[in-house]
Amino acid sequence: MIKKIGVLTSGGDAPGMNAAIRGIARYAIYKGLAVEGIQKGYEGLINGESVPLNRRSVGGIIHRGGTLLKTARSKEFETEAGRQKAMAFLRQNDIDALVVIGGDGSMRGAQALSELGMPTVTIPGTIDNDMPGTQYTLGYDTAVNTVLNAVNKIRDTAFSHDRVAIIEVMGRHAGFIALEAGMSCGAELVLVPEKEMTLKEVTDELIESHKQWKRSSIVIVAEGAMSGNEVYEHIHHYRAELNPSLTVLGYLQRGGSPTAYDAKMAGKFAQKAVDTLLAGKANVIVGLIDNHVTAIPYQQAERYIYGIDEEEYDLVHALGK
Ligand code: F6P
Repeated sequence: MIKKIGVLTSGGDAPGMNAAIRGIARYAIYKGLAVEGIQKGYEGLINGESVPLNRRSVGGIIHRGGTLLKTARSKEFETEAGRQKAMAFLRQNDIDALVVIGGDGSMRGAQALSELGMPTVTIPGTIDNDMPGTQYTLGYDTAVNTVLNAVNKIRDTAFSHDRVAIIEVMGRHAGFIALEAGMSCGAELVLVPEKEMTLKEVTDELIESHKQWKRSSIVIVAEGAMSGNEVYEHIHHYRAELNPSLTVLGYLQRGGSPTAYDAKMAGKFAQKAVDTLLAGKANVIVGLIDNHVTAIPYQQAERYIYGIDEEEYDLVHALGK
């Protein structure tokens, strides 16, 4: 029977992490558990940095971006000695189970701790939406909306000056943000790591639509496909008449208040995480599959990998012509 759970955020911050921390603390306390908030991800476990959380200490954070508990990408935790230190801290502090909020690497960390005997649950939190065991990760919806708002502003200038606006968005390994933002802003071209498109094809496509009637275009580039600068340089060099401009959105996409969807789902994921532990289960990733909140064992998560929507990829280009 568990009495006390730990919670930490790890890896890149994502909007909705604070809402998830609040959800874990409030729901676990509601269910009679004590909650310890570990600071700076796995670093905090190694260095013994934590604070008890109560209902009040997680008040006023549901709408805030970033993470109250801070986050880190810990090199030491990747070593056996680091993980043993983390386990010692958890045991000394009577923490019976750990909830990790983070991306793929954070989930692997949670799995490593579970193999050392600590029950863990991972709540998916990354703007990239690229985790096994779920079709949606906290922060993704906010990031897409942030990109959409930015592109809608950039478009005003692109239209007014007859320019091709190249916008680089995050997504080291996946094109989810690029594709969904591209669909919703009506981009002419979307470059994603999952699909090959050469610079010549990009330029030819733009020239073709330029010849028809288009004077301005939006090109969304996921950083994992190529850099926005490569696209810019190529067009500038070979087809300067397209008048390209480049905007790299960078960390702008990771900050800000979560959307209604992200904040709501943080609460639902938190409930599932705590209920799973209270049911005596662990070592799972909580997620959303076919609109159901699920808890998939880490070992099975690779069976649930969802790529970008190929039909949507074709559609964005059909609509952008
Ligand atoms: O959070 C995911 C992500 O935004 C990636 O898309 C990006 O490449 C990476 O994090 C960069 O984050 P950092 O600079 O913190 O390593």
